Amino acid sequence: MKTTTLSLMLFAGTALAALPAQAAGELNLICSADVVICEQMKGDFEKAHSDIKVNMVRLSSGETYAKVRAEARNPKTDIWWAGTGDPHLQAASENLTLEYKSPKLDELNDWAKKQAESAGYKTVGVYAGALGWGYNTEIFKSKGFKEPLCWADLLAPELKGEIQIANPNSSGTAYTALASLVQIMGEDPAFDYLKKLNDNISQYTKSGSAPVKAAARGETALGIVFVHDAVAQTAEGFPVKSITPCEGTGYEIGSMSIIKGARNLDNAKIWYDWALTAEVQSRMKDAKSFQLPSNKNAEIPKEAPRFEDIKLIDYDFATYGEPAKRKALLERWDREVGAAAN
Ligand code: F6P
Repeated sequence: MKTTTLSLMLFAGTALAALPAQAAGELNLICSADVVICEQMKGDFEKAHSDIKVNMVRLSSGETYAKVRAEARNPKTDIWWAGTGDPHLQAASENLTLEYKSPKLDELNDWAKKQAESAGYKTVGVYAGALGWGYNTEIFKSKGFKEPLCWADLLAPELKGEIQIANPNSSGTAYTALASLVQIMGEDPAFDYLKKLNDNISQYTKSGSAPVKAAARGETALGIVFVHDAVAQTAEGFPVKSITPCEGTGYEIGSMSIIKGARNLDNAKIWYDWALTAEVQSRMKDAKSFQLPSNKNAEIPKEAPRFEDIKLIDYDFATYGEPAKRKALLERWDREVGAAAN
């Protein structure tokens, strides 16, 4: 009797194993882009895959990295979509994310493929965007401020308390700013610059795009952000003008990674392949997400700031996404800038 039950169970097990992977159930997603595009992505995915329920949390890039790292022994997340590439690269090099070669890779621009190759396919590029700022034209006009066209102009004494930027520990945007300035000026001069800039900063926000949303609402004069986030506020009808700095600027390769130990691995791969399609990326603009898409066939939004028009530095992703480098820069920022802000 015992043997028969066991044989039946073994047979059932073998028969189940022979079936294709079941694509049903749940998907635990952390989304590190703007909440509006996060909601749109969740809704579109659930429409396309009605048997999969997406549990989505919106967290900034650095916060997500910290959560994924803290949960490494017992992962609660299956997929991390969006957010700046540096913390994705850091997670990849710490083996927190899983190697996956999507059949969609061949449809991607070289910069997105390079991001995947450099991380042993433990992440991939989903979009790109350059750093700059957006300022409130009405506040600038009424207070008679000079238009800041260069990083150096942001140190003007008249801008005391008029600027916001995020905290680079939580925000990938602000880490991109920190790493860009180090690459443009050299590390010591960049920290001197950031200490002086601190006099003009009223608040270090948690999320990267919050500063320009505050500028749009007139709560601050200027926000240092990715320029696509400034353009989004202009598209919403706010008096925001976007600038990319004259000395040059850095950029992000927004990325996506599957978490190692994902409980819903099949569903994570379904999301991954889906999010790399031209159709999905072409829809991002409907949520006023104006980054440059990684799929070569996706429509580039007319509002998207074009790299050809911006003085871009040759941002060194390998170095600034490296765990020791990122940790060292953030610790120095805490000691020399963050501490002075408190
Ligand atoms: O708002 C969109 C966006 O700027 C993305 O392009 C970017 O990857 C992400 O936000 C960064 O957010 P945070 O700075 O909060 O990590």
